[in-house]
Amino acid sequence: MRTIMKYVRYGRTASFVSVLAFGAMTLGEKNRWKLGGVTQELSDRMVKAAFDAGINLYDTADVYDEGDSEIMLGKSIKPYRDQVMIATKVRGRTGNGINESGLSRHHMSIAIRKSLERLNTKWIDIYQYHGWDLHGEFDEFLSTMDHFVDSGYVMYPAVSNFTAWQMATLQAMAVERGYARYESAQMNYSLLNRDIEYEVLPLMKYWSMTLLSWSPLHGGVLTGKYKRGEKPASGTRMGDRGFFFPYFDEVHGWDIVDEVRNIAQEQGCTMSQVALAWIVSKGHVAIIGARNMEQLQENLESVNVNLKKEQIERLDRISENREIYPNWMVKRQNGDRNFEIVS
Ligand SMILES: NC(=O)c1ccc[n+]([C@@H]2O[C@H](COP(=O)([O-])OP(=O)(O)OC[C@H]3O[C@@H](n4cnc5c(N)ncnc54)[C@H](OP(=O)(O)O)[C@@H]3O)[C@@H](O)[C@H]2O)c1
Repeated sequence: MRTIMKYVRYGRTASFVSVLAFGAMTLGEKNRWKLGGVTQELSDRMVKAAFDAGINLYDTADVYDEGDSEIMLGKSIKPYRDQVMIATKVRGRTGNGINESGLSRHHMSIAIRKSLERLNTKWIDIYQYHGWDLHGEFDEFLSTMDHFVDSGYVMYPAVSNFTAWQMATLQAMAVERGYARYESAQMNYSLLNRDIEYEVLPLMKYWSMTLLSWSPLHGGVLTGKYKRGEKPASGTRMGDRGFFFPYFDEVHGWDIVDEVRNIAQEQGCTMSQVALAWIVSKGHVAIIGARNMEQLQENLESVNVNLKKEQIERLDRISENREIYPNWMVKRQNGDRNFEIVS
């Protein structure tokens, strides 16, 4: 089936990214994290299919399969290099050395050279801190990233797995110092985890940052392949790894899975497509993961699914978070403008 890709503006830049991005975490034959073990031949076919479907954003990390994901992606993407954005990450442990992890200038400067080499590219379109470094300071993280931008190694700085205060401080300091802005945040966001709606998403909206949602199917739980109270079968991610990751509320979460199943039946599509279409309906980018062509094709076709307003509301309702303080007080206090505001 033909897919008609949609695009969103990337942060506050003049670039655009597809609402589905290609996740390269399953690439790599060492298969160290038991996530897929995709070969080079399959990777070439998957990347071509994604590109042909209109995907122009490809996400990997220096730690995925010990660097092999970057190598594979670099090879597969070569024919399309100038037409796509490559996003990779730095932060994770890459070796046994004392400093082979974190966001120090030392580690980041070595890590970026190695990522460029593995990806076989002269620049990285989106360079993401893979997570916060508890043992460093903003000054070092920011000035190192800005140096990469000035050197032409990095187009757009970005973050992943940051809390709202970390993101807010970083962005404010970057803007104040005339550094390049942080244009996106890659965060876990799915019908099974909407935690970032408390603090992170309002902050991102304020700064016009793009959300790149990782594990949009919650590692496969939203495909319907796992059942309440049943041991995950081998040959699946959770079966092979022996635990659910990302974590989710296993008491209430299965009710959400059931509602996704109901809506898939109504729509005549698959559960994965409903879960991905829900994220895209919110204006976010879903980074799709797949271990084979069939899964990839199914996920690509989610752009053809138009959820009804009433179906989105049902999904919103069943997966809604408990309101926390001070959010409920902010909402209450801001209910005092009872007139229409034209914005
Ligand atoms: N920044 C971070 O910390 C972080 C963390 C995780 C991921 N990521 C990024 O996000 C991307 C996507 O993450 P993810 O792979 O966890 O995404 P996901 O879509 O939540 O899970 C993908 C897995 O679900 C199963 N699956 C996917 N589509 C399916 C389908 N149509 N039918 C049946 N099973 C299906 C497959 O697992 P099995 O077939 O093996 O069961 C597949 O490997 C990664 O590639 C990476 O780029 C980033």
